[in-house]
Amino acid sequence: MKPSINFDELIKKDSIHHSVYSDPLIFKLEMDRIFSRTWLMLGHESQIPLPGDFMTTDMAGQSVIVSRAENGEIYALFNRCTHRGALLTIESKGHASMFTCPYHGWTYKTTGEIHFVPKPNGYGENHQQKFSELGLLKIPSLSMYRGFIFASLSSEVESLDSFLGPMKSSFDDLVDRAPDGDIEIAGGVFKHAYDGNWKLVLENHLDGVHPNYVHISSVMAARHQPKEESVASSKGHYSDIAVRQMLQNGAPDHVWEELGMWTTDQGHGYMGDYHNDSRLVVGMNHPDFKSYKDKLVARVGDAEAERILSVTRWNSIIYPNVSFMSQFRQLRIVHPISVDRTVVYTYNVRLKGAPESMFRDTVAFSNVVNGTASWVLTDDLEVYGRVQKGLAMSQPEWIDIGRGLGTDVQEGEHVVRGGTGTSEIFIRRQFSAWLNYMKQEA
Ligand code: FES
Ligand SMILES: [Fe+2]
Repeated sequence: MKPSINFDELIKKDSIHHSVYSDPLIFKLEMDRIFSRTWLMLGHESQIPLPGDFMTTDMAGQSVIVSRAENGEIYALFNRCTHRGALLTIESKGHASMFTCPYHGWTYKTTGEIHFVPKPNGYGENHQQKFSELGLLKIPSLSMYRGFIFASLSSEVESLDSFLGPMKSSFDDLVDRAPDGDIEIAGGVFKHAYDGNWKLVLENHLDGVHPNYVHISSVMAARHQPKEESVASSKGHYSDIAVRQMLQNGAPDHVWEELGMWTTDQGHGYMGDYHNDSRLVVGMNHPDFKSYKDKLVARVGDAEAERILSVTRWNSIIYPNVSFMSQFRQLRIVHPISVDRTVVYTYNVRLKGAPESMFRDTVAFSNVVNGTASWVLTDDLEVYGRVQKGLAMSQPEWIDIGRGLGTDVQEGEHVVRGGTGTSEIFIRRQFSAWLNYMKQEA
């Protein structure tokens, strides 16, 4: 029976019905209509650099193998044996010349084509004719931008180019910073879970009001640090990054109001002008920064290097499963598990050709902000849990997302900027994309 939910009745201009976060049926429909229809980021090609490398991930709850085949091409395949359905691999990554099913030994090439079926005679001649059709099922759409791998469970999805639209500039901002013109994901992955709906993390990463409240304990701790610990130096750089980030979370209201908040029709968005380097990044005064900049200048020239380094974009959201940030080279991929449970994978990005100390800073930042023992992330996770518990209550029915409504500024055909940096425009735009997806029936 078709579910009869009138989605228009759940989303108002300035408020959202709580069931959108707490109803298991709506979650199921989100997996069908959003996560199974649009582009999802699977990762970056540097995670599988060599032929035979593979990793696994999931798309709308479906287990997926992403492999680099002998021909160097990348394939995304359903991780299910076509015989009787066993998962082919339970590894999160590995290297294999073939995938062999643990149950009856059916064996597949890394392209997904069938290679070998044991004891073929038992199948009879007619059935053997079918073997060549029993390769692993391909994910219908696969496309890349600047080395990032995207896939869609739909064959009718719009082009990745048009899906990303203005957000391509955020990927450009990240990759262009590399002195060698390329990046890689390095240093493993942090995985954390929270007891809340998948949308909460995407609504949090552009939220400039919460740091002064949710993160106030670490702000206060940072304010009590001796001054010398927040001076840039190669010694103590780790604590310097930690202290500066925490201090920045306690920035006065005018800093948050003045930052830029841009959103696109697909629900994507980014925060810009969040900081300047004297406030946060420390790099500009650091000795390693000079050698980094020299290398960048050598590749792109002075003017282009200035342009690249003057971009002060903070988090970028690619709706519905990505949040990333070029300043400290962080990538987070969101995996919804159930209506009230979400897992986030966090990766560190290395700028190829940059001094290794910059990657160390990346990892340090990750430990501070994204790691499972972070002083910052743990605050957010607790509040997601509280929000989820609140939203599971039946009353009051609505939550408010009206901050800044009516102050939006259209910038170009598909980009709308918030009237202030703390406008909740990014949430409203995420829900307008949500509504478009959810209203499309199968
Ligand atoms: S289920 Fe895979 S070989 Fe039988
Ligand atoms: Fe936060």
